[in-house]
Amino acid sequence: MAESNPTQPAGIDREAVRAAARNLEDGPVTAGYKGDRTAVIKMLNEALATELVCVLRYKRHYYTVSGLQNGPIKAEFLEHATEEQEHADWLAERIVQLNGQPDFNPATLLDRSHAEYDGSEDVQSMIRANLIAERVAIESYRQMIERIGDSDPTTRHLLIKIMAVEEEHADDMRDLLE
Ligand SMILES: [Fe+2]
Ligand SMILES: [Fe+2]
Repeated sequence: MAESNPTQPAGIDREAVRAAARNLEDGPVTAGYKGDRTAVIKMLNEALATELVCVLRYKRHYYTVSGLQNGPIKAEFLEHATEEQEHADWLAERIVQLNGQPDFNPATLLDRSHAEYDGSEDVQSMIRANLIAERVAIESYRQMIERIGDSDPTTRHLLIKIMAVEEEHADDMRDLLE
């Protein structure tokens, strides 16, 4: 039976850890990375496109809603736009960490987005369109989280964090529905 080595923490194979850390060109991605990197990057790029479309939709709603009584709704639209932009930034950052290319191409943005843009002019139609988009986002994040499983804990954690905000957004929009 092998003697236990007091300098080595239980359960961690230090030689394997050092071997997996050797390829410096891969930045944060070590040889032990268990995810399907191509598939994860593709999913993250679809999520990025979705978030960018959501930024544009909320921004348009924010700028076009008028009327004194709509002030709080306008503020909610702006807050959501800002948070969707933050999600887009987190996703782009993660794609780069995984040695992928974040796709910001405006020509194909809508095709690659899960959620839709909205050109409606009355405020209740805007709220409804946003609620639909938020529910689409929630469901797409739920599927991504399920697919990633335990293969990439950092990406999984990020997607869970974003999904929780989308659930708040959906709740906010539902509260504004008449
Ligand atoms: Fe978002
Ligand atoms: Fe959202």
